[in-house]
Amino acid sequence: MELCKVFLWSLLCFQCWWDSRCLALRGNDTRLYRHLFNHYNKALRPTSGPEDILMVEIGVTLTHIIDMNEKHQTLTANIWMTMAWNDSHLTWEPEDFGGFKALTLPAGEIWKPDIVLYQNVDPYFSGWSTDDTYIKVYSTGYILWEMPTVTMSSCHLDVSSFPFDSQTCVLKFGPWIHSGKELDMRSMADEGSLESFIDHPEWEVGSFKAKRHMIWYGEDFNIGTPYADVTFKLVLKRKSTFYVFNLLLPCLLLTFVMTATFFLPSNCGEKLSFGVSLLLSMVVFQLVLTDVLPESDNLPWIGRFVIITMILMAVSLGMSVFVMYACDSSMGARTIPDWSRKVFLKYVATLLLMGDLSKQGMAESVDSQGEHSPPDLTALSSVDNNKHNDNNTNSNDKATLALHHLVDNLQCVQQNLAGLLMHARRMEKNRALEREWRSLAKVLDRICMLLYLVTATSCLIAFATEA
Ligand SMILES: *[C@@H]1O[C@H](CO)[C@@H](O)[C@H](O)[C@H]1NC(C)=O
Ligand SMILES: *[C@@H]1O[C@H](CO)[C@@H](O)[C@H](O)[C@H]1NC(C)=O
Repeated sequence: MELCKVFLWSLLCFQCWWDSRCLALRGNDTRLYRHLFNHYNKALRPTSGPEDILMVEIGVTLTHIIDMNEKHQTLTANIWMTMAWNDSHLTWEPEDFGGFKALTLPAGEIWKPDIVLYQNVDPYFSGWSTDDTYIKVYSTGYILWEMPTVTMSSCHLDVSSFPFDSQTCVLKFGPWIHSGKELDMRSMADEGSLESFIDHPEWEVGSFKAKRHMIWYGEDFNIGTPYADVTFKLVLKRKSTFYVFNLLLPCLLLTFVMTATFFLPSNCGEKLSFGVSLLLSMVVFQLVLTDVLPESDNLPWIGRFVIITMILMAVSLGMSVFVMYACDSSMGARTIPDWSRKVFLKYVATLLLMGDLSKQGMAESVDSQGEHSPPDLTALSSVDNNKHNDNNTNSNDKATLALHHLVDNLQCVQQNLAGLLMHARRMEKNRALEREWRSLAKVLDRICMLLYLVTATSCLIAFATEA
């Protein structure tokens, strides 16, 4: 029994000795930690006096552009944040603590500035994931806090020169409640860092400049206070190759093909189906565009171009429908008004180097037929009647009867001929009318084509110089 007691006591003693030895071995950082945090309160701003302004340095490294959403006007990016400040409560002499010059601690242990991203739109964002990050404390009180994070920020995107546009996104970091009298900001460098940037297929970084501001807020509520911030201006240039080959080139090709529709004759139904299918493909392009772009009133030039093309195309198609209607034979003879014949077929046609089309219309065809009149058969028949009255003999009756019969037949033939002639003339007149309508349509189509060419090229040139 006694032996057992002695053994237990010696075990306990050994344990104590071992423990103390361990404490001595690894004692210096523990001692340092106790020294620093015995009277530390992480709720208080680490300055010596109330008038002191705490300076916070900030640096941003852009590593990846995850998404640039034109429709929702947001930029999602992966960035590495670096913040640094001097905590006057966390200083020590390294010699007193076995040469410890720095200490790495969980970020939750000490005071941190409430820096926010002003443009943040991420509803699930809750601070800079403070629980998982660590902080480095140097013996001078210098504190370095680095953390990787994904930010989703609002960004005003102006797509008016899509796909040759460049966008500027602003990332503004500043304290939310600490005013400029408590906390000041400055950037670690003139620019944000791009050293670990992963190339983006669509966007190319132009510049990433940093600038410090001191801005007054809350003046509307009479609590105007200055707040410091550091604003990073990210200029992104779109790599347009993808859109040039997949959107611009097909669109231009369609525009050229569309010029061909103006050469198709207006009375041919093919023109309508061809034009309508072109119009449909333009609508498809427009759908693709509206899918990519935000619903702003600032239409990009490519959208404007597609719409102008569609309008001109629709006008041309509407006109060919009108011409088909006018040429329809069931409409009867409806002539072109004199003024339009004069204006379009004579002057405009000569102006467009199509020659004077007013002369080859129906005027010529009517003139050439109007002169000839059929021979008069009634004179012959009246002569026969006189002969009949004079002789008044039965022997001649048969002959005269035959002669009458012949004259009647001839008259009948003449009447039929006259009818045929009238029909032919009417047909000729209709055909001439149709020809004239068609000429008019040709002239109008030529005008449309010229308008189309001029508008299309001027649009393209204007947009090219603008872009
Ligand atoms: C921290 O203090 C050192 C020495 O006083 C100074 O050089 C440095 O600029 C300070 N850093 C910040 C962020 O205030
Ligand atoms: C702690 O620091 C003292 C000097 O300040 C040194 O003698 C001692 O060896 C250190 N302890 C350890 C475990 O490094």
